Amino acid sequence: MIDPDFELDRRADAGLTRQLYDRVRAAILSGTLPPGRRLPSSRALARQLGVARNTVSFAIDQLAMEGYLDTAPGRRPIVAGTTKARLVTGPAAADRRPAALKLSRWAARLRQADWPFMNEGRPRPFRPGVADPRPFPHELWARCLRRAARQASARSVAKENRPSLQAALLRHLAEHRGIKAEAHQIIVTPSAQAAIELIARLVLDAGDLAWLESPGYGGARVALESAGARLGGVPLDRSGIAIAGRSDRPRLIFVTPSHQYPTGRLMSVTRRQELLAFAAHTGTAIIEDDYDSEFHYDGRPVAALQGLDGGARVFYVGTFSKSMFADIRVGYAIVPDALVDVVERAQRHAGQIVSAPLQDALAGFVEDGHFAAHIRRMTRVYRARRDRMVAALSAEAGDRITIAPPPGGMQLLVELADDRDDQSLTRDLAAAGITARPLSRHFTGAIGGQGLFLGFAAWDEREIDAGAAILGRVMRQSRRQRRIRA
Ligand SMILES: Cc1ncc(COP(=O)(O)O)c(C=O)c1O
Repeated sequence: MIDPDFELDRRADAGLTRQLYDRVRAAILSGTLPPGRRLPSSRALARQLGVARNTVSFAIDQLAMEGYLDTAPGRRPIVAGTTKARLVTGPAAADRRPAALKLSRWAARLRQADWPFMNEGRPRPFRPGVADPRPFPHELWARCLRRAARQASARSVAKENRPSLQAALLRHLAEHRGIKAEAHQIIVTPSAQAAIELIARLVLDAGDLAWLESPGYGGARVALESAGARLGGVPLDRSGIAIAGRSDRPRLIFVTPSHQYPTGRLMSVTRRQELLAFAAHTGTAIIEDDYDSEFHYDGRPVAALQGLDGGARVFYVGTFSKSMFADIRVGYAIVPDALVDVVERAQRHAGQIVSAPLQDALAGFVEDGHFAAHIRRMTRVYRARRDRMVAALSAEAGDRITIAPPPGGMQLLVELADDRDDQSLTRDLAAAGITARPLSRHFTGAIGGQGLFLGFAAWDEREIDAGAAILGRVMRQSRRQRRIRA
C-alpha cells in the first residue's frame, strides 16, 4: 500500500505527477516497497490522494517505462521482479558495501604532475603565456561570430576541419611563417595542447624515447608522458637544442625553435638544418611548437622548420590562444600530407573537434584582415612592454639578475646571479602578489639553472613598473634574511 499519510503538496513547485513519481520511486529504491508488492489501482490511488486519475496514470506509466513497475491492462501495478529491480536499484541492501572507485595509473601520475601550474590563481603580473584581452577588437569579433551563426542554418553536417578556416589560415601562415602545405593538411583542434597529444599518440608506442628541450615546455612533457614515452631532456646551447654527439635515438623530438620555451632563444638556421638532417636520417618525427611566433620584435622572424622540411616529418603546431585571447580555445596542427587521413581519424576518435560556427567566425576574422591587423597592433604594444619590463627589472634588481631580452614572444627569463633557490623566491613573490615561475621546474632530468620566468604581454606599463618594484623589494628582503640566517 502507499503510505496512508502521504499527501501531495498543491503549492509546491514540482507538479502532482512529479511528486507522486518521486515518492513511489524513493520507496522502491529504499526497499519500503519491495519487489512483488502490488500497488492500489490508479483509480483507488487517485481517490486516496484526491487527484485526477490521469495524474496518477502518468506517474505509473513513467515508473513502468523506467523499469520500476510492471503493468498490464486490467491489473494493479506491481513492483518489478528481482532481476529487473536490481538493474535499476543496484544490489540488495544487505550486500551493498561502498567500494573505492579505482583510477588508472595515468590518473595517479596526473595527481603528482607539476604541470600545469595549478596553484597560480587568477592571472596577475607576471604570469607567463597570457595575452592581453583588453585591446582585442571584441566588436569586430562579435560581428564575425554573428555572421557565422547565421551561416550555420544553411549548412547540413559540417566537416570537422572547416575548409574556410584551413584556406584562410594557410594563406596567413604561408606569408608570415613560410609554411609549405596544402589547406587540407591543417587539423583544427581545441588547443595546441590537444594537437600535441594527438600527434604524440599517433607517433609513440609505450616505452618509446621522446626528446624534448631541457629546460622546456611542461605541457609537452605531460602530453608525451601520457602517450607512454620515455623522456629524454636534451640541454640547450646558444643555437638551440644540442643534439650533436648523442647516441640515443628518439622516435619523436619536441622543439620550440622560434622562441625557445622558456629561454626565448631563437634556434639558428644551421641548427635547424642539422635537426632536420638528423630526423631524415633516423626517421624521427618532429613537433614544432610555434606557439607565440606571431609576435616578433627584433629583425626578421626566421621561417618555420616546417617550410624547410617540405612537410615530410615536421608536425607544425600553433594556437590562437596567444595571438587572440586565452579563452578562444582553438589551436591547429599542420601534418604531413600522407598522414592527414589517420590524423583525422584520431581527431574524431578523441573528439578533438572545434565547433563549426567558431571555425567559420575565425575564418572570417582572418580573411577580412582583422587577425593580421590585431597582430600588427599587439606587436607594437608587446614590444614596448618587453622593453619596459627589461628596463624596470634592471632598475629594481639589476645587480641580482641577468636578463636576455627575447627577440619576440610574450615572456622573458631572468637568471638569478647568486645561487638563489628559485622555488622559495617564487613563493615569497606569490605572497607579495606577484606570479613568477621557477626555471628549475622546467628541466627534464638534471636541473641546469635557477631563474624566474615572467610574462610581460598582458600587463600595461603601470602594472609592469609596480610589479617590478615589488619584485626588487622581495629580492632585497630575502637576500637580507639569508645573510642574517647565514
Ligand atoms: C610553448 C607552449 N605551447 C603551447 C601552449 C598551449 O597553447 P594552448 O592554450 O592552445 O594549448 C602554450 C601555452 O602556454 C605554450 O606556452
